[in-house]
Amino acid sequence: MSFIDPGDEVLLPDPSFLTYPRQIQLAGGKPVWMKPTDELKIDTSNLQDLVTDRTKAIILNFPSNPTGEIMTALELKPIIDLAVDNNLILLTDEVYERCIFTDDKHIRIPALDGTYERTLLLNSYSKTYCIPGWRIGYAAGPKEMISQMIKMHSFIVANAPSAQQNALGEFINTKEADDFTNNLKDILKERMDKIVKGFNSIDGFNCRKPEGSFYAFPKVTFHKDYTTAVELSERIFDKQKVVLVPGTEFGPSGEGYLRASFGSISMDQIDETIQRLKNL
Ligand SMILES: Cc1ncc(COP(=O)(O)O)c(C=O)c1O
Repeated sequence: MSFIDPGDEVLLPDPSFLTYPRQIQLAGGKPVWMKPTDELKIDTSNLQDLVTDRTKAIILNFPSNPTGEIMTALELKPIIDLAVDNNLILLTDEVYERCIFTDDKHIRIPALDGTYERTLLLNSYSKTYCIPGWRIGYAAGPKEMISQMIKMHSFIVANAPSAQQNALGEFINTKEADDFTNNLKDILKERMDKIVKGFNSIDGFNCRKPEGSFYAFPKVTFHKDYTTAVELSERIFDKQKVVLVPGTEFGPSGEGYLRASFGSISMDQIDETIQRLKNL
């Protein structure tokens, strides 16, 4: 709302967090999907074709919800160049930065060459400390961008709850905080290994190992009784009471996929879930 005028276009990964296209539309803008590669990263081969004189911003989110993929600095280079060449804003949502299962280091977009003055970094403590109900997050960026946002923020959000801000202020730079998040990552990795193995033991499911986040995004094959991700998701819910979000909620390329969250599921519940899917 601070940067988008009616009719402005915003590039976003297909698939990506289902809130993005709705938020772009709420601001009066038009979502423009960036197609995925076979590995579900952003296909950077023809990005310039998507840019028009109305293009204003690019949204990035690594590790990604729903794919769990991350992109390296080298893979991101064409996107950064596109933003610089066309004077676009980069909006980078890095809420899963502490949840990477591989040896890769998290890439902080505003730390890359040439990005700082055009980048708004969005982050949240919801995932890092398991406190989504506290509603504390932040935007970091150049003063000129943040001051535009404050004009909107004062009349929409007013302020983040001060009790939660104070509590987090005491906690975030402590060793306990760091240990908590590192331990959380180990727990999530254990669940990730189990759920991916479980999905791959089901006929018709094929699941890549997510590199980060707490989502698995299995590819599914269809059947005469269910020919779309929505139909399959509804059938799984009706018959087995397992919630898997249809991939199409995250963008058109999500057809043929389901998204599972393992953010708050026990190891026993993963066994139970896989068994129910096998039953169906
Ligand atoms: C990519 C991404 N960004 C932002 C959020 C929202 O975070 P919060 O609950 O802190 O607003 C989520 C929550 O699922 C998410 O997956």
